Amino acid sequence: MGNDKRIPLIETKNLKKYFKTGSGMLHAVDSINIKLFQGETIGIVGESGCGKSTLGRTILKLIDPTEGEVLFNGQDISNYNTRKMRPLRKEMQIIFQDPYSSLDPRKSVIDIISEYMLIQKTLKSRKEAYNHAAELMDLVGLARRYADAYPHELDGGRRQRIGIARALSLNPKFIVCDEPVSALDVSIQAQILNLLMDIQDELNLSYMFVTHDLSVVKHISDNIMVMYLGVCVEFATSDDLFENPLHPYTQVLLDAIPEPSLDKRDQPFKLIKGEVSSPIDPKPGCRFASRCEHCMPQCMEEAPEYVETLPGHFVACYMVNEK
Ligand SMILES: Nc1ncnc2c1ncn2[C@@H]1O[C@H](COP(=O)(O)OP(=O)(O)O)[C@@H](O)[C@H]1O
Ligand SMILES: [Mg+2]
Repeated sequence: MGNDKRIPLIETKNLKKYFKTGSGMLHAVDSINIKLFQGETIGIVGESGCGKSTLGRTILKLIDPTEGEVLFNGQDISNYNTRKMRPLRKEMQIIFQDPYSSLDPRKSVIDIISEYMLIQKTLKSRKEAYNHAAELMDLVGLARRYADAYPHELDGGRRQRIGIARALSLNPKFIVCDEPVSALDVSIQAQILNLLMDIQDELNLSYMFVTHDLSVVKHISDNIMVMYLGVCVEFATSDDLFENPLHPYTQVLLDAIPEPSLDKRDQPFKLIKGEVSSPIDPKPGCRFASRCEHCMPQCMEEAPEYVETLPGHFVACYMVNEK
C-alpha cells in the first residue's frame, strides 16, 4: 500500500469531523487515512455510532471536514465550495440503507431514475433521460414493466435497485454504499450484493461500502477498515482480516458473526463487556480500552500508534505491536 505509485481515486489525509454539542466536542471522525483506487472496494466496519456515515458524508463533501484533506483523483477538494463541487457531484454518489425514505413516494420509478439526469441536464431531453433510465433498469435487473410503478408498490429489494439505478445515472466513478443491504431480508441481501459487484466489474467503479455487519463486506471488499469511536483500529485486505484479525475489537466483531451451522445457531452472541467510551471530548488512551479484555495500564494513558504490523496490515494496539 505504502509504495503504490498509482493515484488513488479517493484519498483522505488525517480527516477529522467534529460536531459541537452541548456537552463538548464530539469526535465523530478522528484522523482517518484512506486510499481507494479505481475499481476497488473499501469496506468500513464498526458498530452503530462509530462514525461510518459521517466519514462517507465528509468524503462526499455533503458536510465540510473539521480538519484534514479529501482528495479526488489527486485533487484536494477539502475547501471546495458548492460551485466548485458541482462538476464533481456527478462523479460521486451515495446509496442509502433505506431506499424508501430516499425515494420520492409521489414519483414513478422511471421519473425517480431520471431525476438526477434532468436536474444536471446531462441529456438533451426528457425522452433521452427516460431511454437511459430504461437501460439502467435493465442493468440493475428491474423489469421495465415497473417503469410506471410507485416505490410503495415494490418490495425492499426492488426499491434498492431503483436507488442503485439512480446513483448510476450520472456515470459516477465513486459510490458510497451506506448500509445498502442492512434493511433487506437476508435472502435479498445476497442478490443486491451480487448486483453491486457485477455493476462494479462492468463499470470499473470504486465503492466505499459502509456496514455494521462484518460478514456482509467479506466478499465485496478488497480492503477493510475497522472503525471504533471515530478512529481506525485495523486495516487489512479482506482475506487477511478474516484469516488473521489482530485487534481485539476486530476479533469480537468476527466472533459476533452468527454461525450458519444448526448446532451452533442457538448460542448467544459474545457480547462485549464494559462501558462504551464517549466520543465527546474523548479521554487520552485507546478508545476501546474500557471494553478490552487485554487492557493494560498504558492503554489508558496514551493511544497506541497505528503501525504496519504485517505487510499491508495496520493495527493500533499495544498488545499486538509490542510482542
Ligand atoms: N449532525 C450531527 N450533529 C451532532 N452529532 C452527530 C451528527 N451526525 C452524527 N453525529 C454523531 O456522530 C457520531 C457518528 O455518527 P454516524 O456517522 O452516524 O455513525 P454510524 O454511521 O457509524 O452509525 C455519533 O455519535 C452521532 O451521534
Ligand atoms: Mg450510519
